[in-house]
Amino acid sequence: MEYADLLIENHGKVAVVRLNRPKAMNALNDNMMNELGHALRAFDQDLAINVIVLTGSEKAFAAGADIAAMAQYDYQETYGNNYIGRNWEHILDIRKPVIGVVSGYCLGGGCELAMMCDFLIAADSAKFGQPEIKVGVTPGAGGTQRLPRAISKSKAMDMLLTTRMIDAAEAERTGLVSRVYPAAEVMDEAIKIAQGIAEMPVSVAMQIKDCVNQAYEMTLSQGVAYERRYFHAGFGTPAQKEGMSAFLEKRKPDFEGH
Ligand code: HXC
Repeated sequence: MEYADLLIENHGKVAVVRLNRPKAMNALNDNMMNELGHALRAFDQDLAINVIVLTGSEKAFAAGADIAAMAQYDYQETYGNNYIGRNWEHILDIRKPVIGVVSGYCLGGGCELAMMCDFLIAADSAKFGQPEIKVGVTPGAGGTQRLPRAISKSKAMDMLLTTRMIDAAEAERTGLVSRVYPAAEVMDEAIKIAQGIAEMPVSVAMQIKDCVNQAYEMTLSQGVAYERRYFHAGFGTPAQKEGMSAFLEKRKPDFEGH
């Protein structure tokens, strides 16, 4: 499938989806978000793909929602036509792991989209910020909710109120990203990490993702009970038989098709 605002690559069981509006720093508009939802759903249903990598360009993961488009909107176009809700959150329905890889600017809606990924790997060029206040609006895709959960209330309020950008080192220190690599190496490293995950049983990867996401929605005891059901059910699956036999037989497990 060809997209106007995305580039797609395949690396074995890993699909790479690249945001691609280079003239506008990958500003996120309706078409791109519609295409992103379509591409993510297609890979989620593709039995040949186990892991999805979402990235942008060297200059920008995305410099925010498209201000040129938004500037024209009124209340009817936003509330009435469900701006953001209509096409930004398909990524939250994806069951397979989605790794975000951030180089350059990751601002406003770009940072909010990145935070909807399962984990983030950054280039040393990455810059994260929530400058919405400067264009006269609050964040609208979860910035005030996911950022404090990710990096603490104090850091989040600082970024949201002052529009200060944090660099990759601060993003790693505060837990927003899990790893940082030199810009020239980040994609190769991220694909290697994704391919490592893609060798694991995809069903278990999806269950872990589901459990971790529930941690944000449930009490601790509800979450542990939720996890326990998957754990017990795992003993009825070929992945558990293969994984544990391979360990005892001192060989590499083969989770193909699990
Ligand atoms: C539309 C954008 C854009 C954006 C950059 N561009 N960001 N267009 N929407 N969010 C465009 C510029 O207009 C310019 O187009 C081209 O990309 C290159 O940008 P420059 O500003 O010339 O580059 P530079 O000087 O290097 O500065 C880079 C930048 C700056 C620091 C990222 O562009 C910037 O501050 N952008 C806006 C960041 C922002 O405020 N994001 C939050 C948006 S609100 P031309 O045609 O002039 O060459 C938001 C709300 C989310 O995201 C709420 C719901 C999800």
